[in-house]
Amino acid sequence: MKKKLKMDRRTLLALAGGGAAGLAVPKGFAALAIPAEAAPVDLRIQKASYRLREAVTENMVSVFPDGPPPVLRMTQGVRFSIDVTNTLDEATTIHWHGLRVPNKMDGVPYLTQFPIQKDETWHYSYTPDDAGVYWYHPHCRTMDQIARGLTGIIVVAEQDDPGFDGETVLNLHDFRIGKDDQFMKLYSARAAARAGTLGTVMTANWQQNPSYEHQAGSLVRLRLGATDTTRFYKLTFDGAESDGAEGRIIGADGHPLREALPWPSPDAPITVAPGQRLDVAIRMPDTEGKDVVVTNHTAQRIRPLATLRATGSSLGRSLGELSPLPPNEVPDFDPDGIEVVEMVFGWSPDGLKPDNGFCGSLGYTFWSIDRQPWQGDAAKSIAPVAELKLGRPYVLRLRNESPNSHPIHLHGQVFRPLRSNKLKLPSNWTDTIVLNRRETIDIGLVADNPGDWAFHCHVIEHQKTGLAGFIRVT
Ligand code: C2O
Ligand code: CU
Ligand code: CU
Repeated sequence: MKKKLKMDRRTLLALAGGGAAGLAVPKGFAALAIPAEAAPVDLRIQKASYRLREAVTENMVSVFPDGPPPVLRMTQGVRFSIDVTNTLDEATTIHWHGLRVPNKMDGVPYLTQFPIQKDETWHYSYTPDDAGVYWYHPHCRTMDQIARGLTGIIVVAEQDDPGFDGETVLNLHDFRIGKDDQFMKLYSARAAARAGTLGTVMTANWQQNPSYEHQAGSLVRLRLGATDTTRFYKLTFDGAESDGAEGRIIGADGHPLREALPWPSPDAPITVAPGQRLDVAIRMPDTEGKDVVVTNHTAQRIRPLATLRATGSSLGRSLGELSPLPPNEVPDFDPDGIEVVEMVFGWSPDGLKPDNGFCGSLGYTFWSIDRQPWQGDAAKSIAPVAELKLGRPYVLRLRNESPNSHPIHLHGQVFRPLRSNKLKLPSNWTDTIVLNRRETIDIGLVADNPGDWAFHCHVIEHQKTGLAGFIRVT
């Protein structure tokens, strides 16, 4: 009999880096044999309340009554099982964003499973083949449940530790609360037809600028995910250039980099759009009390999101002591002469009423892929955007005819950008790519995972008002 791991909030918060100390892997740990299967985990989707600011915010959604969803920790190549129980008065499903799972584990209503109704439990089980940073979120009642907090980070560890001294995981998420700290209207027709509705309070792990202590001069793995419905984060890591500190981006969207990304500066912060993640190596400052601050930049203001604080005497480490991350095994392709599938992201034909169903809609339709809008969370009788042959390489030509930016996300496989008509893009593996206003990007992939795979914009108001579809791989 396998033991069921009940999610104990204190343990999970400690794992999530919610405690004062970062998570250090004890010496000798890596030498232990890694079991073939992790202890199963229970997630009870439930209402929560939490002090985001002054007064306690009610009507949040989490897997604890009084805290953020936990970091789920998996190990590459080790089977993981999760029972998701829905205690809400509405349906849900959970999707594992970026993990290349079997289609029936993907958590997309009607495409891969039925919605999980009140008091039902759905069993998910899969083996994560890729190490890196991923996340989980509902794919039914998506707008409401994500905006109310139902998002968590997934960390898939490499089998061999690359040599960090500590780790901090950040779930970047904004909440749209008013002066009374209660939720305001989460979306509007006007915003859904444009860039979407922004929150009012920016948080990391549901806290405003939380601080995490790490030993001075130590090597810290900072993993973060943009799980907000709308915000494109523009980040710098202030303080990582002085007092012995340094930093390097080592992974993005679940994969070690094929091509280096420049270290962000206030003039050129790094964009992390809804759905995207970063894996960052930070060498802490030498002096106790010095900070490395994860900072967001907008035209209006610069705001700290989370702080890493150096404590104690310096360990004197250097980034060069880390072993390079082994690439995940992704089938690559020769981009010359492979079939090109074109698609256009833009307006939708007038007068289409969304389909409400168990998974809800916002009540209007603005967007489409190839003029075919996905109507609500769970569209039925819609043709695939593309039909790809299993094992074959393809170029998908993504054309954005709109004046808005769209983080386009594909389930079940990863791709890399080949060219853009606007920007020079590093060709790193990803599952979510920003398509800027009026930009056309060619992405390449080998369609190696059979099934019907959701394909949509991750600005949730766009996704829910038509900018979604699916790709069939057979
Ligand atoms: Cu982050 Cu369709 O998902
Ligand atoms: Cu996804
Ligand atoms: Cu969009």
